[in-house]
Amino acid sequence: MEQLNNNVIGEFFEKLGILEENDRDEFFKKIDEKHKVNLTQDLDLAVALRKDKGNGKIYTVKNKDLETTMDFAGYYYDLYRQFFAWFIDFKNSYDKNLDGKKILDLGCDNGITTCFIANLYPNSEIIGVDKCKKGIKCAEEIAQKLGVKNVKFEAVDAKKVDKFFKEEKFDLVLSNRSMLEITNLPKLKSFWSIDEVENSIVVANSVLKFFKSVEKVMTHDAKLITFERLDGLEEILNFIKSMHASGLYADIDSMCKIQFNELNDVEQMPLIVFDKAERDEIGFYDAIEIYNKLPILNKQKDIEDEFAIELQFKALGEKELVYGTQIDYKTGVGSERREVWKVGDKYVTYKYSNVGRRELVIEGIEKDKAINEIRAMSNFIGRIGHKVTEYHSIEEREKLVK
Ligand SMILES: C[S@@+](CC[C@H](N)C(=O)[O-])C[C@H]1O[C@@H](n2cnc3c(N)ncnc32)[C@H](O)[C@@H]1O
Repeated sequence: MEQLNNNVIGEFFEKLGILEENDRDEFFKKIDEKHKVNLTQDLDLAVALRKDKGNGKIYTVKNKDLETTMDFAGYYYDLYRQFFAWFIDFKNSYDKNLDGKKILDLGCDNGITTCFIANLYPNSEIIGVDKCKKGIKCAEEIAQKLGVKNVKFEAVDAKKVDKFFKEEKFDLVLSNRSMLEITNLPKLKSFWSIDEVENSIVVANSVLKFFKSVEKVMTHDAKLITFERLDGLEEILNFIKSMHASGLYADIDSMCKIQFNELNDVEQMPLIVFDKAERDEIGFYDAIEIYNKLPILNKQKDIEDEFAIELQFKALGEKELVYGTQIDYKTGVGSERREVWKVGDKYVTYKYSNVGRRELVIEGIEKDKAINEIRAMSNFIGRIGHKVTEYHSIEEREKLVK
């Protein structure tokens, strides 16, 4: 089966003429030489390609013409490959036959994903929408090049998708890295611990409005497949909670994490399937448990899970705070704490920040040496201008302004 999937994907890539890129320097050198993109733009592109902060310009640049869009497509080669492989398995195991049904690809960009899906369902009508007109033009050219007849592309603001498709409903909606570009999840206020997270999650009205407009264009038993660059578990939970509030519920059994190569990096993104079958609300502790148990497709390496580290720290049981420092970075990147704790007759160090980082060392810690190291490092950071405060108990720590 896997071989068969690989063949389907391989043939598609070959016909498309997409090349696998796995070296960042080589990739941008090639783009520079061929497309005469200047370095600053280049760096902007590199950042924006990873997470476009609503800056639509990047898509106008990369979708300048068919050749440029295809050269950039190599950046996503493995991401496409892994997503397509997952999708073929989904198609084979889904008890509803979607061939002949209607499918919507939200934020379709140059339509590569749209065309792949269209090939799998030759009797369906697949519509790709994107607000970038140049992207839509590339998508039409790619469909023509591939000879895919059952796709249509529309330059539409996805936030108004329900206004555009007033009469049409879709049996499947896809979003491959587009929902978080179409709408911005509110950034959670900083937090020191899991317990603080749950109260910090707010469902934003703008997000709700967009998700509801997607819900409206879905048939009663449609699925929404999202493969999004969600940063951290708190963002995943925010995404799921906002969907729930819009009447779309996460089907936990279909969730997974997919690892893929992005030039030199190994990245991981959650794939979440939503539908209209009502389900219970998920709290943060449930989310951690669910997330940690999710299957990881194409796992190549362990990606550090900050919350698992915090849970490990909590699970140490009764403990006493011996020494700590809090560093408030003047650059506004958050604050961090470095602490020594006594657990039974042993000592551990726990370093954590209010913007996500967690580090726990439970073996080989000598109390005085650990305190001295933390003090020396904190003093150094203090000397370069950041605010450093020492404490020796939880009560002293509580008095610190967050
Ligand atoms: C990372 S790309 C999506 C890639 C594509 N789904 C794929 O599978 O290759 C994000 C896309 O979202 C589009 N986008 C951002 N805001 C949008 C909006 N309000 N309406 C429609 N498309 C939007 C961008 O133009 C861009 O093409």
